[in-house]
Amino acid sequence: MPLCKTQCALRARSGVLEAQLLDPQRHDRQAFTSGVDALDEYLHRFAVQHARKGIAVVRVLVDTDMPETILGYYSLSAAQIDAVQMDAPTRQKLPRYPVPCFRLGRLAVHSAHQGVGLGRLLMGCAVEHCFEARKTVAAYALVVDAKGENAGALYRHYGFVPCRDNPMTLYLSLGANLSMNEIRSG
Ligand SMILES: CC(C)(COP(=O)(O)OP(=O)(O)OC[C@H]1O[C@@H](n2cnc3c(N)ncnc32)[C@H](O)[C@@H]1OP(=O)(O)O)[C@@H](O)C(=O)NCCC(=O)NCCS
Repeated sequence: MPLCKTQCALRARSGVLEAQLLDPQRHDRQAFTSGVDALDEYLHRFAVQHARKGIAVVRVLVDTDMPETILGYYSLSAAQIDAVQMDAPTRQKLPRYPVPCFRLGRLAVHSAHQGVGLGRLLMGCAVEHCFEARKTVAAYALVVDAKGENAGALYRHYGFVPCRDNPMTLYLSLGANLSMNEIRSG
């Protein structure tokens, strides 16, 4: 299955699954539970504030027939990473000062819907939004801080590479050759 899905949407059993910007008027944050307290608390208490303050962009996955029910969410922010943290072939191509990146701050799927592909769909949406954003602001990779070995294994499964000094920080190169046409069409 491809990681990126066109326009982050696919046909679901009832409506269409769609990644929407978190909207406290429309989305029921308190009903969301992933089984990881810190990820639930972030959505319940901090995500709206962070979005308003420009700390993170938070998108929630919903079925358009039940748009109040949050099936999963992720957050993205700007970040940077020291090139010495990257593998040797990558490092050699990069400047010696910190490299601009995006950070996947949080990723979680509702506990009632885990294991059916929504995590992969959310990850694809996040990567797709990184590609969109980097048409206007350059970024070389998507980085993530894995919260535990299980999360680390998940990100390695998605193709993320552990950093040299801290394997719990991982990065996914977004591809070095952004074509001029892609930049112009942005
Ligand atoms: C981790 C989580 C986001 C995965 O979402 P999901 O919808 O359950 O996962 P999916 O059904 O989309 O599976 C995606 C792929 O990842 C794999 N996968 C899932 N968890 C994995 C793990 N811990 N290690 C390695 N691979 C894993 C699946 O086998 C699947 O592989 P495939 O697409 O090649 O078949 C979700 O289970 C969750 O929210 N868990 C609680 C919060 C959490 O641990 N978040 C981690 C980020 S800090």
